[in-house]
Amino acid sequence: MVGAPGRRAIQDRLPGLREELGVDFCILNGENAADGIGITPKLAERLLAAGADVITLGNHTWRRSEINHYLDDSERVIRPANFTAAAPGRGMTVVESGNGTRVGVINVLGSLFMEPAISMFELIDGLVDEARKSAKVVVVDVHGEATSEKVALSCWLDGRVTAVLGTHTHVQTSDARIQRGGTAAITDAGMTGPHDSVIGVKTNLAIQRMRTGMPVRFETAEGGVRIEGALVDCGDDGLATAIEAIRVDYP
Ligand SMILES: [Fe+2]
Repeated sequence: MVGAPGRRAIQDRLPGLREELGVDFCILNGENAADGIGITPKLAERLLAAGADVITLGNHTWRRSEINHYLDDSERVIRPANFTAAAPGRGMTVVESGNGTRVGVINVLGSLFMEPAISMFELIDGLVDEARKSAKVVVVDVHGEATSEKVALSCWLDGRVTAVLGTHTHVQTSDARIQRGGTAAITDAGMTGPHDSVIGVKTNLAIQRMRTGMPVRFETAEGGVRIEGALVDCGDDGLATAIEAIRVDYP
């Protein structure tokens, strides 16, 4: 979700949407919560109170330094696992859903344009094994620029996790699918925020920076707000039975 428009939509509509769609567990990528870039403890608490069970982050995790200590103490807000070992916080958590099911959530960063400390492929197997020790349902948020990396990770994890859901590009892809081994996947779950924009930024500012190559201070756009995401159903074995891309206009 992106900026104040995305946050307002979440706070206003997420509780109702959870009811309408029968959602037991909600994972929200919150790295663009604070004015479109980064997240603060206060914003994280608001999003959790609005109905997010776990918040994942990404390449903009460290834009607001006040989040650092908060991440050390939080079990519900995680950052990509493939930062350095010295970085605050954790990249995997297991949280109990409202219906008592334990859900493992893993957050990893792709390599293209992201420069993680290590490749997600170096540590994903260990993370999945660790999550599966205490949870049958395991969801991976792969935060990445390249469709190829996200599709490859989905294939690599097929049959071992419930879902591999892509984030970061803010553009929802039309490839929601259940793979052969029973893992649901979508290359990008999309953006909850202002779509009358260039991926959340005021259109004129984004174009100005691209046309001139000069520094331009970005501002979050306001219009065309939509809630986007992916809805996954799974069985008791943790394998997925359905996945659907979600698009809801707001208000
Ligand atoms: Fe990102």
